[in-house]
Amino acid sequence: MLIKNGIIVTGADTFTGDVLIRNGVITQVGLDLSGEGEEVLDAAGKLVLPGAVDVHTHFDLDVGIATAVDDFYTGTIAAACGGTTSIVDHMAFGPDGCRLDHQVKRYHELADDKAVIDFGFHGVIQHVNEDVLADMQTLIAEGITSYKFYMTYGYKLEDADMMRVMARIKELGLIVSAHPENDGTIAYFKDLFHKTGKLTPEYHAKSRPFQCESDAVNRLLLFSEMLGDVPLYVVHLSNGLGLDYCKQARQRGLRNMFIETCPQYLFLGEELYKNADGLKYVMSPPLRDKRHSDELWRGIELGDVQTIGTDHCPFNYATDKQQGAEDFAKCPNGAPGVEMRLPLMYSEGVAKGRISLNRLVDLCATNPAKLFGMYPKKGTIAPGSDGDIVILDPNAKFTITKKDMHENVDYSPYEGMKLDGRISAVVSRGELIVRDNTFLGAKGRGQFLRRSKPITMI
Ligand code: URP
Ligand code: ZN
Ligand code: ZN
Repeated sequence: MLIKNGIIVTGADTFTGDVLIRNGVITQVGLDLSGEGEEVLDAAGKLVLPGAVDVHTHFDLDVGIATAVDDFYTGTIAAACGGTTSIVDHMAFGPDGCRLDHQVKRYHELADDKAVIDFGFHGVIQHVNEDVLADMQTLIAEGITSYKFYMTYGYKLEDADMMRVMARIKELGLIVSAHPENDGTIAYFKDLFHKTGKLTPEYHAKSRPFQCESDAVNRLLLFSEMLGDVPLYVVHLSNGLGLDYCKQARQRGLRNMFIETCPQYLFLGEELYKNADGLKYVMSPPLRDKRHSDELWRGIELGDVQTIGTDHCPFNYATDKQQGAEDFAKCPNGAPGVEMRLPLMYSEGVAKGRISLNRLVDLCATNPAKLFGMYPKKGTIAPGSDGDIVILDPNAKFTITKKDMHENVDYSPYEGMKLDGRISAVVSRGELIVRDNTFLGAKGRGQFLRRSKPITMI
C-alpha cells in the first residue's frame, strides 16, 4: 500500500509526505514515493497517524453477575473503526488457586480466532505464592510482560503480597498496575448507604469518593518507593488529588511511574448519576466533578499524564445494568469506550487547541506501545514498524450516535456529542480494514502480540 500526500504525524514530527507499506511493514517514509502494483490511498489534506494503541480493555470480562458484551470480535471491530489497531486486554480472574498460564490459555481460546486487530494480554495476579512468582518469569517468553492486581473486589491482595509482586516486577524488568481503590472505605460507605436506604446510582459514586482512590494510588507510589522505583502504571486515574500524589512522588525521585486517564473522566461528570439513566455510568472509579476533569486535562497538557486508555467494559443498559435499578451495588461496573477514544481526543484535545497532534499520538499510540513492550513495531510511523495507519480528515465533523457505532452494547455514554475531525480509513499491517466507518477485514485476522519488556524512558 502507498499512502500519498498526507500530513504524517508521529510523536516527534509533523510533515507532508508518503508512506510505503510492503508485506505489512512500513518500508519507506518520504517524499514523492512510488511503488509498483501497490494499492494507493490518497491522503491529501488528511492526517496520517500511527494506528492507536489501547492498553486497557475488558473484552468478554465475566464479573459473575454479567459478562461484558463485547467479545474479541465485536470489540476489536469497534476498536478498529475508532482508529485503534492494537489492544492489550486485562484478563479476568481464573478459578481459585490457578497458575498464571491458566488464564493465558483461556484468553487465547477467546481471542485467537476472533480478534480483527493485533492483541495482547495483561497477566492477572489473584493470589501470591512461589509458583505465581515463578510463573511471572516463565510467561515472559509467552509475551506477557505486564501484570495487574486489585486492591478491592474479590481476590484483592494484602499489603505483603502487593510488595512481593512489585518486588518481582522490578526484578524481572516488567511493569505492574493495580486497580487502586481503598476496599475498607468502600465497604464502610456501602454499608452506611444500605442501612439508610440510599441505593440510587449517585450513591455508587458517593461510596467510592476520590479520596478512596487517591489513598490507594498513594500507597502504590509509596510501596514502589520502598522497593526502589518499580515500573508502575497507574490505571484509570479519575481525580486531581491522585494526580498530585503522583507528581509529588515524581518530585521525590520516582521515575518509573506512569499515569493513564480515560475519556470518561475528561468528558463526563458525576451529575450524570442523578439522571434517570444514571446506571449507564456506574463504573469504578466513578465519574467525578468538573474540578477533577480540569485537573486531569491540565495534567495531560503539562505532560504529567502519559497515556489515554479506555477501560472499555460494556454492559447493556436495558438488561445487565438494570440489575442495579433497586440497589446500585448490584449493577455491573463498567462502560463502553473503545470506539470513541481517538475521535474524542482529537476533537476535544487537538481541535480545541489543548494539545498538539504530536502529543495526541504520544498519548494514544507511542507511549502505550513503549510502556507495554510493543514499540517500535507499534505506536509510530517509521521504516520497520507495522503498517498500522489511521487517516483522519480534520475538516469533517460528526455527531456521536449509537446507531453508527460498532460496539456491541445498547448505548454510548457520549451520545449526541458533536466532534471535529473524522476517521476516513484505517490500515492494519498494510491492509485497509476500515473505510468510511465500514469494517472490511476478516474475523480472526488479528495477531497475538508477544510483547517485549517495557521501555520506561519515555
Ligand atoms: O468499572 C470498571 N472500571 N470495570 C472494569 C474493571 C476495572 O476496574 O478496570
Ligand atoms: Zn480497574
Ligand atoms: Zn479496567
